[in-house]
Amino acid sequence: MKRAKILVVDDEAIVRESLGDWLRDAGYHVLTAEDGAAALEVVEREKPGIMIADLVMPGMDGIELMKRAKALLPGIEVIIITAYASIPTAIAAMKEGAYDYIEKPFCPERTELLVEKLSQYRALVEENVSLRQKLEGQYRFENIIAKSSKMQRLIELIKVVGKSNATVLITGESGTGKELVARAIHSQSHRHSKPFIAVSCAALPESLLESELFGHEKGSFTGAYTQKKGKFEFANGGTLFLDEIGEMSANTQVHLLRVLEEKEFARVGGNEPIKADVRVISATNKDLRKAIEDGEFREDLYYRLNVVNIELPPLRERKEDIPLLAEHFLDTFALENGKEIKGFTSDALQFLLDHDWPGNVRELENAVERAVILARDNLITVADMPQRGVVPASATTTGKCLKEVEKEHILAVLRRTSENYSETARILGITRMTLYRKAKEYGLTVKKMNND
Ligand SMILES: Nc1ncnc2c1ncn2[C@@H]1O[C@H](COP(=O)(O)OP(=O)(O)OP(=O)(O)O)[C@@H](O)[C@H]1O
Ligand SMILES: [Mg+2]
Repeated sequence: MKRAKILVVDDEAIVRESLGDWLRDAGYHVLTAEDGAAALEVVEREKPGIMIADLVMPGMDGIELMKRAKALLPGIEVIIITAYASIPTAIAAMKEGAYDYIEKPFCPERTELLVEKLSQYRALVEENVSLRQKLEGQYRFENIIAKSSKMQRLIELIKVVGKSNATVLITGESGTGKELVARAIHSQSHRHSKPFIAVSCAALPESLLESELFGHEKGSFTGAYTQKKGKFEFANGGTLFLDEIGEMSANTQVHLLRVLEEKEFARVGGNEPIKADVRVISATNKDLRKAIEDGEFREDLYYRLNVVNIELPPLRERKEDIPLLAEHFLDTFALENGKEIKGFTSDALQFLLDHDWPGNVRELENAVERAVILARDNLITVADMPQRGVVPASATTTGKCLKEVEKEHILAVLRRTSENYSETARILGITRMTLYRKAKEYGLTVKKMNND
């Protein structure tokens, strides 16, 4: 197992050196610094896994140093050195994120044991993350994670279509990854070094969308004080992504069809033809065939846009993608929030697999982000999942008094944890004593009171 890099920070040379020598003899790679400022430089340059810092130092104290070091390097673990008199402060430091503290004068064995434990723990975390990244790399194309056979086939299609200039219509429910696919097609194409420009056809009223797409000449309508280039001009040589194409008005549809046929256009209020070398990819979560039947979408435009159709399956039809997606989002948000989270407990993962995900990958992404923020441990539990930890006010609870709802909720969580009182108290955010008191008050069984 790889030995960790350890940074020792103390203003007293004797402490620094004796502790440093001891750890070096134990086989660690030791770095030292005499104050907070010097330590932060080392943290940035050498990225040590562990920092052992004195609590009281002139200038920046150990807690301040820990906070800044974690801001620079979220994964760093910190052990605080403290004199006996400052132990309460050291305990406060642990609440702020220190792993543990050691007391002066040192007991070398205890220090080494602590460091050993910590570095083993870090190695495990790193091993897990790197294994996961390897696995992820295998099932990742551009930014798309795709393990299921449905998605693997879709990736093959993206590779082929990317090389062509064909228009592509991407269909699928909200949150299935349509924009991600559009970007991947662009990256695969010979246009990849030119702009990828996205326009939402639902965000703007008709007149503004026309000027957004094609630009306008000065004075062409009230408010057009200057000449403006449209997205078709900006996207020249590259790709224009027309999102929510199903919302485009009848007039703009005619205009767009003409541009696609003639490969040139004029700005609103202008006559000068402008050449457009633009590849159009569009997306919708609407059923365009039905919109055509209802007279809301032009059939001729549909065929122009839909030379190739890519249909993204809803997440519930490709559940094999869920674990990798969830772990990918976990890594992303853990890093963003400076949290070291190793993964999901098996029942949390089961929850993710059982859920139907009407909001598809976006909903999963949001759920994992929320769970990362809520997680109090280095594993995400089912209590961190939406609608499990908290019973929302609903038809069954409104109309009841607070005590009744509290009783039901406590009972529900107790059942879910198989009457594990510690776990229940943790989920509810109260102490075990408070839980016992309430359980007694409500006449709930307290059968495991003494054995969990
Ligand atoms: N296969 C995937 N791998 C990784 N991330 C994904 C995947 N699919 C979707 N996402 C992520 O989920 C979120 C939603 O994706 P995207 O915006 O592409 O969906 P959409 O189909 O365009 O949704 P909408 O119809 O609501 O606009 C994004 O943050 C995207 O990065
Ligand atoms: Mg989208």
